[in-house]
Amino acid sequence: TMKGVIFDLDGVIADTAIVHHAAWKRLAADIGIAFDDRIGERLKGVDRRGSLDILLEKAPRAYSEDEKEALASRKNDYYRQQIETFGPQHLLPGARNAVESVRRAGLKTALASASRNAPLLLERLGIAELFDYVVDANHIGRAKPDPEIFLAAARGLGLEPSECLGVEDAVAGIASIHAAGMKAVGIGHAQALAEADLLLPNVAAFDIGLFISG
Ligand code: G6P
Ligand code: MG
Repeated sequence: TMKGVIFDLDGVIADTAIVHHAAWKRLAADIGIAFDDRIGERLKGVDRRGSLDILLEKAPRAYSEDEKEALASRKNDYYRQQIETFGPQHLLPGARNAVESVRRAGLKTALASASRNAPLLLERLGIAELFDYVVDANHIGRAKPDPEIFLAAARGLGLEPSECLGVEDAVAGIASIHAAGMKAVGIGHAQALAEADLLLPNVAAFDIGLFISG
């Protein structure tokens, strides 16, 4: 039986996928690299350095480690400038209710975000107290699609992976959930999330009743 739900943050609960996208796009423009929505989709759910490496696939020259560090932190500055101004109005519609409904149904909740800005964002959105466990992204060595982060979330809740459901908006995230041995709910476009066990247009459509019996 299902005992816990593990949520991704960016693009599922918080309206930040567009902010990450804009920050990468701005960085790409800074250094004269082409950026389109297809690359933007590939960056979703991928950690900061992994995202930069994808962006630099199109670069006409090689970048040193120091340069890459500087670029990654510049992107983060662009991103932080925006989320410093965030409040509960930046929750995606229905997000608070989706998490609360899981708690009301007696299940546990966890957050599995690769973002090192997740704690700040949870505070800004006013939902930090809704999660029984929040994975610390600084302690995750292998990025999504590796299962490490979802396994860490299940462990943090004291549950078996098979007792958990994962909710994700990114291709890499769905793959991470499945590799962890969990069922996956995809939030967003069917095309990108064909692998999900259940696909919903947005988090407002999430209903824990579909996953619990009785
Ligand atoms: C999430 C987002 C990604 C982001 C990653 C790292 O997975 O979906 O777009 O690259 O977190 O976030 P950070 O805020 O630490 O750069
Ligand atoms: Mg996401």
